[in-house]
Amino acid sequence: MNPLKTLGQFIIEKQADFPYAKGELSRLLRDIGIAAKIVNREVNKAGLVDILGTVGDTNIFGEKQKKLDVYADEQFIKALKSGGECCFVASEEQEDGVELTDTGISKNAKYIVCIDPLDGSSNIEVNVSVGTIFSIYRRKSAVGNPLTHEDLLQSGVDQVAAGYVIYGSSTMLVYTTGKGVNGFTLDPSIGEFCLSHPNMTIPQKGLIYSINEGNYLKFPQGIKSYIKYCQEEDIQTNRPYTSRYIGSMVADIHRNLLLGGIFIYPQTATQPLGKLRLMYECNPIAFIIEQAGGKASTGKQRIMEIKPDDLHQRVPAIMGSTEMVDKVLEFMSKDS
Ligand code: AHG
Ligand code: MN
Ligand code: MN
Repeated sequence: MNPLKTLGQFIIEKQADFPYAKGELSRLLRDIGIAAKIVNREVNKAGLVDILGTVGDTNIFGEKQKKLDVYADEQFIKALKSGGECCFVASEEQEDGVELTDTGISKNAKYIVCIDPLDGSSNIEVNVSVGTIFSIYRRKSAVGNPLTHEDLLQSGVDQVAAGYVIYGSSTMLVYTTGKGVNGFTLDPSIGEFCLSHPNMTIPQKGLIYSINEGNYLKFPQGIKSYIKYCQEEDIQTNRPYTSRYIGSMVADIHRNLLLGGIFIYPQTATQPLGKLRLMYECNPIAFIIEQAGGKASTGKQRIMEIKPDDLHQRVPAIMGSTEMVDKVLEFMSKDS
């Protein structure tokens, strides 16, 4: 058996891949790992303590904020603030984001973090997996100057790292720095994330499709046709495919990454841009999926090439095994 490798050891080893790295990105990833362990502790005892339910506020999207949404947001911001490597946090739970450059230790920080602190939060109360999604950019303007739109609204192709944490039957942290994808499982007995899934790759074909079919009538024709294709009987292509939809994007993506599959949250008649957010949901997941050998598109363009104009903008998402994504794109181009 291979000796245990912790996330901390792995990050330091990988620093050698970036000859000019000074360890700042490594420290930033370490800080995110620490906050993830704290959030994991609370998620695990969610049924025991008075942490379920809403805080009575709604966030900027008019959604009820769960206590754990707020708690997770606080923990990640706190860890990034005390780590000193992050100058700005864009969070689902913060309308304007949080600038950290005025705090002494982060004065010269070079990195911007976009985060969905708790993904799938409606699943917490029913003991179903939830997650955290993060994306990291290097600021473009020189340190010491005020942050600009160009710093905060970078395209996904400019990400220097991205990842997710899944708080599931076990807790895992999966991340990429653009040189493949690696997964770490939390060993609760030693409190460390340990390398369990080196060099993760997504199968080119899959047999699972994940979409909220309750919205079927509101989907574009191309998506409706693809769903019918998934349901048809065909021995050669192993159809019908299996439908699996958890409602926590992280969990749906994680399963499809391991087994092969496609995750779709399209535009609908009532949500012309879909539901998911570009900066802290779609871009980081797209980076991971592409690094694992898959594909991520809006149906019209590669997700990571979108030039954002708002921290909270939404985009349609079609992500997963390359051959499955290509099939959806084929249906969409035929039916548009
Ligand atoms: P969040 O909990 O961060 O708001 O995200 C929920 C997202 C995503 O995780 C999931 O795939 C999707 O919303 C589910 O939406 P529907 O209930 O509309 O299918
Ligand atoms: Mn989310
Ligand atoms: Mn969330």
